[in-house]
Amino acid sequence: MVKIHPHTKEARSKTSAKHSGSYGVGVNLKTLKNQAQNEIKKATELKELNEIFKKYLGKRGELTQILRSLEKLPKAKRVKIGREANELKNFLREKMEQKKSSFVKTTEDKEEWLDITAPGKKLALGHLHPLTLVKRKVEEIFQAMGFTVIEGPDIETEWYNFDALNIPKDHPARDLWNTFYLKTELPKEAKVKMKTKFSSPNGLLLRTHTSPVQVRYMESHQPPLRIIVPGNVFRHEATDQSHEFQLYQVEGLMVDEKVSVASFKAIIGEFFRRFFGNDIKFRLRPDYFPFTEPSFDVSITCLVCGGKGCPVCKETGWVEMAGAGMVHPNVFKAAKLIPHQRSGLGWQGWAFGFGLDRLAMMKYKINDVRLFRSGDLRFLQQF
Ligand code: DAH
Repeated sequence: MVKIHPHTKEARSKTSAKHSGSYGVGVNLKTLKNQAQNEIKKATELKELNEIFKKYLGKRGELTQILRSLEKLPKAKRVKIGREANELKNFLREKMEQKKSSFVKTTEDKEEWLDITAPGKKLALGHLHPLTLVKRKVEEIFQAMGFTVIEGPDIETEWYNFDALNIPKDHPARDLWNTFYLKTELPKEAKVKMKTKFSSPNGLLLRTHTSPVQVRYMESHQPPLRIIVPGNVFRHEATDQSHEFQLYQVEGLMVDEKVSVASFKAIIGEFFRRFFGNDIKFRLRPDYFPFTEPSFDVSITCLVCGGKGCPVCKETGWVEMAGAGMVHPNVFKAAKLIPHQRSGLGWQGWAFGFGLDRLAMMKYKINDVRLFRSGDLRFLQQF
């Protein structure tokens, strides 16, 4: 029986404990082979493999120790075991080499693998919001009819939002617009600049409609003029299927020496045709707005139900799309323009205010206005 004489403390504890006693080197070699082979198999990275090499084939490795101890054996055994041990050494080396190249291969595979026939990855591109799509379409149609697109501020003064539009302070018509008033006051210089014969409290608010831009624009531009004003407006409202506290409007204004309801009807009819892509039935009915005289509401047949009656049109078959009318003389005066006189001098004009959300609802047959600002991707991805 051959005993192994490990030289190191470490090897002694690892090797001799296992291989001493009744086991011979032959058996030890077998166990060693299995054990080493197993470890090589399990190794997952180069570092581990290096450790295994050290453990068995390193300077103080287990197999190295056995090979060293051979000289102490009788010749016959030395030759036999020596051959076996050397074979094992070569075997393990080979196994380790194989494993090593498999590592290199997988890392190479990972880093350099390129399938030029694979289909390209699609970049997830964003797209325009339905309200933006509608806004752009509206702008395109009116621009083609000679209108200029103008913008105004979201934070507006009471003067432009109400007074200049013939809605003086404490007038009940202010109740038509539930308003977000701001605590910030306008600077004194600005207040002085705006003094007119209208009451001018000049607090600040979130504009309730785009109509203030009518006056803003006419103050600095001499008619004849045609503008549309798309923009956000804000109302202090409880929300439901057809009410939001923030929505989009498009204001329209046309001023010239002779402008009539007939020209308004012609333009708005053409707009509907181009916007909805077919002949849409629409109607004007008398209405009241302080800044127009006469005023009317503009309705179209409900496109959600085709005019049969549904919750969107409140079972009437008609949906109100805009307020409109002939510009009130006081609005011209607020902008320092002379309104139409009996003599034939002065300006005439018509104006309208569309709910852009309404237009979008009709175009895409959407039955809840709150969806637009819900941020719900299931809704948005349909456009
Ligand atoms: N500004 C009105 C609103 O928000 C809508 C409107 C009505 C606009 C009549 C106009 C108009 O220009 O002439 O309810």
